[in-house]
Amino acid sequence: MRILLFTGKGGVGKSTLAAATACASAAAGRRTLVLSTDAAHSLADALDVPATSEPTEAAANLWVQHVDAQDRFERSWADIQGYLLTVLDVAGVDPVAAEELTVIPGAEEVLALLEVRAQARSGKWDVLVVDCAPTAETLRLLALPEALGWYMTRVLPVERRVVKALKPVLTRAAGVPMPGDSVFDAIERLHADLDDVRAVLTGPETSVRLVLTPESVVLAEARRAYTFLTLFGYSVDAAIVNRVFPDEGADEWRRAWVEAQRRQLEDAADSFAGLELRTSVYRASEPVGRDELLDLAESVYDDSDPLAGGVSVPTMTVRSTAGGLVLSLPLPLAAQDDVDLVRKGDELIVSVSSYRRLLTLPSGLARHRVVGARVRDGQLQVRFAEPAAATTDLSEGAL
Ligand SMILES: Nc1ncnc2c1ncn2[C@@H]1O[C@H](COP(=O)(O)OP(=O)(O)OP(=O)(O)O)[C@@H](O)[C@H]1O
Ligand SMILES: [Mg+2]
Repeated sequence: MRILLFTGKGGVGKSTLAAATACASAAAGRRTLVLSTDAAHSLADALDVPATSEPTEAAANLWVQHVDAQDRFERSWADIQGYLLTVLDVAGVDPVAAEELTVIPGAEEVLALLEVRAQARSGKWDVLVVDCAPTAETLRLLALPEALGWYMTRVLPVERRVVKALKPVLTRAAGVPMPGDSVFDAIERLHADLDDVRAVLTGPETSVRLVLTPESVVLAEARRAYTFLTLFGYSVDAAIVNRVFPDEGADEWRRAWVEAQRRQLEDAADSFAGLELRTSVYRASEPVGRDELLDLAESVYDDSDPLAGGVSVPTMTVRSTAGGLVLSLPLPLAAQDDVDLVRKGDELIVSVSSYRRLLTLPSGLARHRVVGARVRDGQLQVRFAEPAAATTDLSEGAL
């Protein structure tokens, strides 16, 4: 089983390249499902087939699916989300948890995630190609299982006990809407499912492909995406620069574009050193239909296997140095100034711009003090020292 996620800024060619890659995979005899988490039907348009919310055969070995956001589960998720926000408000939940909850996206994205997981676990496919929504949304979507997981393991058990004990009192006194057990059960089920979503999406068989065009604004966003995706433990295996102008036979106007694009391509090569960097020519017309897409895939992947790649990134490593233990977290392209670090008990909260990940420290480090941190060579390095002997440990976890 191989899973490829295509992401990138709006309009750069995600759907087209996802469809092209799926066509190539199917043509090589692998049972391939290409699935869109986007409300627009561009995947079906690119393949020139009708959009359906169930996998529908489009060619030999090739199935297409557009996850339907108006699905019947939407309402039940809205209930859960509404409840979580009420609880948050009433229970005076820890501000970190409160902030985490604000990143919970809408039902649409959750549904899309659950569908990706269901198809991945179905055993029906050799290859799953996912055409993701534009960058920012995808990133939020990928952060969700962990954000909710934090809530589930830290807040919910307590909440559930408290609610059980106080229910008769609270319902009368506080005017707080008290959930029945079914809400908790639904949340716990959802959490287990989302945990599995994360397991699927960060597993060794899954990789993310960044799609971009050779323009500075698009490249800047792709660079950020590379950092954030790695922060969340996703393995990026390639960057595909789409809509590259061919340089032969160019007039004055196009020569200027070719030159501008060449500079952006050089920057892209620097930015994504270590990733497979592929290019895709700006074609004279929209690549629509299987033949066009196969042709496009051939030009993008040359003779190499479109499914190759997929080395999982080691999310955290700890090594022993003369100065103490050093924890490293890969954060490609991140600048020191963009990264924030907060230690909270046995957790490390790493923020890069507006994205935040809660990392549970390996047990060997839980009692150590943070004595320094820096960003070097695409890595966040955090130095820890033994807790000083004979002093009381005043870290939050101990109190
Ligand atoms: N290499 C190319 N040459 C010519 N046209 C292209 C190429 N790649 C994509 N297109 C066209 O550009 C348009 C946008 O492509 P596509 O829908 O794949 O982008 P997208 O990133 O999925 O967009 P969205 O963010 O809206 O989902 C489409 O009309 C597509 O046919
Ligand atoms: Mg699209």
